[in-house]
Amino acid sequence: MYTLIDYSLDNELALIGLGRAPVNALGLTLRQELQAAFRQASADPAVKAMVVYGRGLPFCAGADIAEFGGAAFDAPALPQLLIELAGSAKPMVAAVGGLALGGGLELAMACGYRISEPKARLGMPEITLGLLPGAGGTQRLPRLIGAETALETILSGQPLRAERALELGLVDRLTASAETLLDEACAFARELVLAGAPAQPSAPHAAPGADLPANFFVDYTARKSGQWKGQVAPHLALEAVRIACEQPLEIGLAREEELFKEAMDSPQSKALRHLFFAEREAGKVPGIDASLPLRPIRKVAVIGAGTMGGGIAMNFANIGMPVVLLEQKREALDRGLAQIRKNYEISAKRGKLTQEQVEQRMALLAGTLDYADLADADLVIEAVFESMEVKRQVFATLDEVCKPGAILATNTSTLDVDQIAAFTRRPQDVIGLHFFSPANVMRLLEVVRGKETALDVLATALKLGKQIGKLPVVSGVCYGFIGNRMLEPYAREAHRLLLEGATPAQIDRVLTDLGLNMGVLSMYDLVGIDVGYLIRTPLREVLARDPSYYRLADELYALGRYGQKTGRGMYIYEGRERQDDPEVLAMAERLAAELGIQRREISDQEIHDRCLFMLINEGLQILDEGIALRAGDIDLVWTCGYGFPTWLGGPLHYAEHLGLERVLNSIRQYREQLGAYGELWLQPAPLLERLVAVGKTRISKD
Ligand code: 3HC
Ligand code: NAI
Repeated sequence: MYTLIDYSLDNELALIGLGRAPVNALGLTLRQELQAAFRQASADPAVKAMVVYGRGLPFCAGADIAEFGGAAFDAPALPQLLIELAGSAKPMVAAVGGLALGGGLELAMACGYRISEPKARLGMPEITLGLLPGAGGTQRLPRLIGAETALETILSGQPLRAERALELGLVDRLTASAETLLDEACAFARELVLAGAPAQPSAPHAAPGADLPANFFVDYTARKSGQWKGQVAPHLALEAVRIACEQPLEIGLAREEELFKEAMDSPQSKALRHLFFAEREAGKVPGIDASLPLRPIRKVAVIGAGTMGGGIAMNFANIGMPVVLLEQKREALDRGLAQIRKNYEISAKRGKLTQEQVEQRMALLAGTLDYADLADADLVIEAVFESMEVKRQVFATLDEVCKPGAILATNTSTLDVDQIAAFTRRPQDVIGLHFFSPANVMRLLEVVRGKETALDVLATALKLGKQIGKLPVVSGVCYGFIGNRMLEPYAREAHRLLLEGATPAQIDRVLTDLGLNMGVLSMYDLVGIDVGYLIRTPLREVLARDPSYYRLADELYALGRYGQKTGRGMYIYEGRERQDDPEVLAMAERLAAELGIQRREISDQEIHDRCLFMLINEGLQILDEGIALRAGDIDLVWTCGYGFPTWLGGPLHYAEHLGLERVLNSIRQYREQLGAYGELWLQPAPLLERLVAVGKTRISKD
């Protein structure tokens, strides 16, 4: 009678095993069966207590996210189901194995008692989906662990280790191991029966707001308002916890349901849920499945111990993999290794690593000047200067020294991976692994698939990327791959708008107001105007058609004004403080006059539309060309690698939110308005035109 639940009796105990692979998401059928099992156990006079556990699976990863955003939930909805469970006349023990997240933790809290295996993680990740806990979590958690800790747990979205959950009183006991979880949970339930324990013990923090300072919630909001800028869910979650502190449970639960619905229906949550599923999709590549044998990677080599090479090497040492770091000169090698040690020491000072761990990781890193030491590497990642000639020398040498089957990767940001592959006699083993700076921190990894890259090489790279904690996204070969290629037209509009009359501060403000971490001009000042100049080198031929828009940046480059590192770029810097620079404004005026560009007042709306819509337009073109496999991949690249706000879901999701027709009309309007410049550069992507022509509101290639 049950399809997802294993219901069995063990003397006076009913054991309810949840079995919806892979993570026991509480979809409709599981809810229905859990309710039926609960009612069966409640009605059976032989049953004195119940144990709920994950049957060979994690306890529960929460509500089924795929059900959100549609029609009302079919009964039983999770909140009502958990109210019913919490009203049980018989003690219930939740046996938490693996994880109890969101609705999963709410299920565990609805059970009066909780026991956890030592490696389990318990938490409320709803906020990362633009939601708040909506099945009692905002009301029960404060009553269990206190309002302030509950608020931190809910707002951070970060799971707690089982040990910490025990300290906080979120679980009653830890088991000796995961293997003994069910046995120990049953023993716990029997003890409760023997002791005549109540089905719901009294809450340790029955009045969770009692100890809070006056004005706690107002002050809390004021403290966090910068961090929460533009986001709805944290405010709603805070409101729900405030009510938990001020109202009885029933009123709190009812209000929580309303607030949850408000969050769920918000465009922000929709955007974040889109990214959740996009992230899971990104790992799926046609032609690759679990049956494809991967290449074993036990030793990695990194060439170039500069900014990127050092960070890349750290990623592998962090997972216990030996790394050989190759440089041309002893000084460069020593400098690179010293920088790595310095980074680890900083982590140790911050309490993120022990000194012993620092030494362990350093011991995994061997420096060399000799290519012969790369002979046994399974994967080599090249991170030398961005010059085709240097890459040619390196790859030709790798071809000579590396063992057959070794994966040869390049970290190039803009160069042609197919051309690099052709420097070897084994192009099928060559791939791009485009890390972002700082490479040991940034999560995005563009995995660049050359035209000859073998499927098992791609699959191995994707798996390894995940192993080192990255989010790998596949890109085809083109200038700048997904991310930097889209950056070009976006930055182009920003630079051109300076000549037309906008100021750097105005442009950057429009972008940060939208929620971007940084405006594009500040970003170039941070990355280096010199780096921007070099990145444009392969584009010079294209830019020659009308180099107007980068003239200002090129002049700054010629003046040695490289941005933050030289104290002057688009702005003047005192440390990290920036000020407008009248010289830049004068330069823009002069260049506009020279180029015959009419200066005028530029509205914020125009800045938004031209920068953002050309970014979106390029994304659509990349999708159409097959450089990106799907729209979600493009959104991941920009949210994860370029500070695009997650709650807007990435550029293409944002375009869907605004309406594709509006994006197209706006591009057409500026194309007309901007004369020769518009005609040259503001060309709507054919995919955008096709989608609008057939009235599609969602972006897909076909
Ligand atoms: N709902 C629906 N599907 C889910 C899910 C959920 N809550 N959690 C995971 N899945 C699916 C994934 O989409 C994926 O599906 P796929 O194989 O078809 O792509 C599959 O389960 C496996 O997920 P992962 O690839 O992410 O597996 P990992 O082992 O890397 O991670 C995890 C497992 C830590 C559970 C991770 O999936 C996760 O963080 N899930 C979301 C947890 C969460 O946010 N829970 C709160 C939900 S909202 C809620 O409960 C509201 C309530 O308060 C009312
Ligand atoms: P970098 O200049 O900091 O480091 C390059 C290192 O390579 C130097 O230490 C140099 O001594 C060494 N090197 C040069 N030629 C060599 C050779 N033939 N053999 C061995 N070592 C050699 O440069 P960075 O910034 O680390 O960039 C490296 C690569 O990564 C480039 O292709 C760049 O485009 C790419 N990249 C850079 C990013 C960044 O933000 N800096 C981001 C993503 C990719």
